[in-house]
Amino acid sequence: MQKTFIAKIEAIESGQRFLAKFSGIEIVVFGHKGQIFAYENRCLHQGGPVGEGMILGRVVSVLDSEKRLVREEFSESEDQLICPWHGWAYSLQTGECAGLRGVYLKKFEIVNEKGSVYVQSQS
Ligand code: FES
Repeated sequence: MQKTFIAKIEAIESGQRFLAKFSGIEIVVFGHKGQIFAYENRCLHQGGPVGEGMILGRVVSVLDSEKRLVREEFSESEDQLICPWHGWAYSLQTGECAGLRGVYLKKFEIVNEKGSVYVQSQS
């Protein structure tokens, strides 16, 4: 099993993002709302540095009782990582592309060992 040190947990929880090479792939590791994520830092559109993107709630429609659109707002429970090049959006939890269901950013497993955060291979 391959394992690569990324950073101390305090640095990740402070909001810093970390780039690392893992199995020859550039990955980005960052924390958000108490969770840590690790994805390949390569957008599925044209290879942009998706890890440099903003994190925003998914846009959801608010409907009235007759299912007419009242307004749109950002979800507080479903966050997305937005690629800075052309705006493709990915589920923060799963890496699934909002515009191409069933297509995912490559996700990596994180382990926290006594305050040290590592990325490791699945097997
Ligand atoms: S490269 Fe990411 S949206 Fe185009």
